[in-house]
Amino acid sequence: MIDRLLLSCLLALAFGVLAAQTSWAADATAGRKKASACQTCHGYDGIAKIPTAPHIAGESQIYLENQLKAFRSGKREHEIMSVIAQQLSDEDIADLSAWYSAIIIEVIVPETQ
Ligand code: HEC
Repeated sequence: MIDRLLLSCLLALAFGVLAAQTSWAADATAGRKKASACQTCHGYDGIAKIPTAPHIAGESQIYLENQLKAFRSGKREHEIMSVIAQQLSDEDIADLSAWYSAIIIEVIVPETQ
């Protein structure tokens, strides 16, 4: 019984530390500055400036982080993004994802007959 209590305390502590680290690492203001490396293709605002790049504004933090880490590890490959992601630290990825996920986008769906 005591062991289970101790275990749940340790788990709570571990998750608490992890959560604290994540929120500390993800800094949208720092991400905005770092986004100067992305603006030619994705824009500061996350709306693509070239037709072959995707819009990344408003995508979730976790999705953006996962994609950037996948490009960096080679799990996802693209001639440009694989090279760019090599230069990003975990903190860069968290900051950039915080910036682009914080952008609010509006959608107008076309009317259909
Ligand atoms: C020279 C152009 C260029 C630059 C600069 C660039 N990207 Fe990209 N990015 C692309 C293209 C093209 C793709 C589409 C990749 C594919 O088709 O798989 C992409 C894909 C992505 C994706 C995946 C989007 C999705 O919907 O799955 C993310 C996230 C991303 N880029 C983030 C960044 C960040 C952050 C930076 C700056 C550090 C950056 N990119 C710089 C061209 C660029």
